[in-house]
Order: sequence, then C-alpha cells, then structure tokens
Amino acid sequence: MMSEARPKLFTPITVRGVTVRNRVMLSPMNQHRAQDGYADDGLLVHLGKFALGGFGIIMTEATAIEPRGRVAPGDLGIWSDDHIAGLRRVCAYVKGAGGTPGVQLAHSGRKGASQRPWQGFGPLTGEDARRGEPPWPLVSPTREALGPGHVVPDQLSLDGIEGVLRSYADAAARADAAGFDVIEVHAGHGYLIASFLSPVINTRNDEYGGDFTGRIRFALKVADAVRSRWPEHKPLMFRISSVDGHPNGWKIEDSIMLARELKAHGVDIIDCSSGGLRQSTALENAKRYPGYQVEYAARIRRGAGIATAAVGLILDGRQAEDILANEEADFIALGRQALYDPFWVHHAAQEFGVDPDFASWDVSAGWWLAKRKDGLASIGLDGAGKRMSSIEYETKI
Ligand SMILES: Cc1cc2nc3c(=O)[nH]c(=O)nc-3n(C[C@H](O)[C@H](O)[C@H](O)COP(=O)(O)O)c2cc1C
Repeated sequence: MMSEARPKLFTPITVRGVTVRNRVMLSPMNQHRAQDGYADDGLLVHLGKFALGGFGIIMTEATAIEPRGRVAPGDLGIWSDDHIAGLRRVCAYVKGAGGTPGVQLAHSGRKGASQRPWQGFGPLTGEDARRGEPPWPLVSPTREALGPGHVVPDQLSLDGIEGVLRSYADAAARADAAGFDVIEVHAGHGYLIASFLSPVINTRNDEYGGDFTGRIRFALKVADAVRSRWPEHKPLMFRISSVDGHPNGWKIEDSIMLARELKAHGVDIIDCSSGGLRQSTALENAKRYPGYQVEYAARIRRGAGIATAAVGLILDGRQAEDILANEEADFIALGRQALYDPFWVHHAAQEFGVDPDFASWDVSAGWWLAKRKDGLASIGLDGAGKRMSSIEYETKI
C-alpha cells in the first residue's frame, strides 16, 4: 500500500459548472450493438458497470448525429428525439452512481458503412446486405473513397455542410435533454471532421479547404453549433487525432493551433488521440508502448493553455498518477484497460490506500468488503485478498 498525499487521480475537478469525482474517464468505445441507434438494457448495463466501478466521466461510444454518420450497423444514435428516452435512463443511472455521463457526438464521414471489427472491419459487402445490413450513402469533404470496395462518398456542398451543422446542434440539444453533462465531439480518427482537417484528404478549394484556416473552419463551426444548443455551464470536449501519421498530414503543431482556436469557440478539454486517417482507428505503423500518446496531451496542454485528456495504453494507477502529477494532462481516459477491469478506479484506490473503508464503492458491496477486510487482516491478507508484505503482516497481527 502506498501512503502519500491524496493522489491527483482521486481529486475531483470542476469544469464550468460540472464537478467530476475524479480524473478517470471511460474512453469512448463502440459497441455496435444498438438497434436503429436506440440505447437499450445492454448499454445501461455496459456503461452502468463503469459508473459502479468508480469512473469519473463515463463517455458513450461514438454516437451518430445522423444515420449516414454511423461507422457500422449497430452504432448508437442521437439523430432523433425518439433516442432521448433510452439515453435518459443511462444518464440517470450513471448520475445515481456518482458518475458524470458524457456523450461522444460522431459523424463517420467516408469511414461509414463499414463492418463491425469482429466481422472484418472492411466495407459492408453483398453478404452483409443479405444478412440485412446493406451499405448506405456517405458524405465527405471530397468524393474520394476510404479504399477499394468502400462506398464513394458524396462531396458535401455548402448547403450540405449547413445541414450537418444543424444535425450537430440538434444532437447537442438532445444530449442536454437526455441528461448528459459532458459532450465530446469526435474530431479524430479520419472521420468527418478529421477529414476536413487533413490536408491529405481535404483537397477542396472553397472556404472549407485549402490552407489551415479553411480546413479548420468546419471544426470551429461544429463547436459553435454544439455550443449554441448546449448549456453554458456544461463542458465541451473535442477528441482529435493529435497527429495523423501521414508524412504530409496533420502535425502536432496544427493540433496546438487548432486547440487555441477551439478554446476561443467554447471548447474546454482536448482529448488527445492520434491516427486513424485510413482504415484503422489508430496510428499506422506507430510503435505502441504504455502512454504512447501522452506527449500529445502534454504538448497541447502547454502550447494551447487548455485542459487535456491523455489516452492510449494507460494501464495502472501509478502510470496514470504520474501523468497528472507531471501536469501532462488533466484527465486519464481508459479504453481497453477499462474493458479488462471495469472496477479499475476502485482497485487503484485500494493500491493507493485512499479508500481503506471501501467508502467509494456502492454501499451494498462496500459495507461487506470493509467488514471482510478486518477478517482478512487477521490471516495476513489485505482488503483485496492478497498477501500483505511481512512488515504489514506483523503490524496487523
Ligand atoms: C472496442 C473499441 C471501440 C472504440 N471505439 C471508439 C469510439 O467509439 N470513439 C473513439 O473516439 N475511439 C474509440 N476507440 C478508441 C479508444 O477510445 C481509445 O482511444 C483507444 O483504444 C486507446 O486507448 P486504450 O489503449 O486505453 O484502449 C475504440 C477502441 C476500442 C478498443
């Protein structure tokens, strides 16, 4: 057990009018399980377990603002008022368990009409169509398809862009009505907004293309559209691909400049991912090691003077705490490690010794675990049921 001043990881943080109980965020992770975009019992249980597990911000998966903006069949949706009721149930549960519900507003752009990862990750095929999951029309800044076999997207006209902006604004209003306290706009991984940002994909020669100012125009208008229907006191976060990994692509310096602009347009936090320009959701050919994207969060935080979230192979509490203590980020987003251990936050709190009485657990579990702790100590085991070091053992006995 570590004994030191209260770790930052477990220190609440207030952004605008919303206080989050700690610094850990469930990273958005697609389930591709929804029917017609509706939140169902499966989603309630899925996200509910992270709320019970002590996570601060519990972010939904990419949630489509339009049906054509789904990545794959089964994506969660917020394109209709009819979606609000199911999402409201999820938000109420998450809040009841002390978490802060967030929704990731997403539009896939040319990366839509894809198969679920476990069905191949490629474009939807005739076989998928025969199963009842045909591809659908897509939109993008240009008419270039993601790759062979993918739907060739329609190029968004200026009117088309206005229509998408209205969809973002409407989705923000629905998110508020459902009870979400945080919106994250998905502007990374090669999806619609990212493809406007990228000099590799965006070869338009109108006001939404060309130089940096032209290519970020759509992202800034999305921020404005969302802010126009999202309460002043609620935080707005943007997830970006800090670098896209292409030699002629988007660089960290671009991200810093974009973050400054987004801040001026009402964005509070940048969630610093990377890559995904093409087929994969990640940086192509990148070396993966624990915390491989943390430097982006640190550079954007310093360079733009904005709060950041770090994400990517953050595995244990000590690593997460170091990132916060070194002022490299303000939030820690966990993806696959959260899938591995939905009670990660509670387990880290045990390791740090900040919750000796299991007070942060749901009382129906915490009361029992606290009681068990005394019994376990008498046989040389700690509250998690693991053998204590010999020194602790002697002290307790
Ligand atoms: C199953 C799965 C689904 C994902 N879906 C999304 C998504 O909907 N939106 C998004 O921005 N990132 C998505 N990601 C990326 C994660 O949010 C995260 O950035 C990435 O997995 C790296 O973090 P990790 O190493 O903690 O998993 C997904 C990742 C996984 C593993």
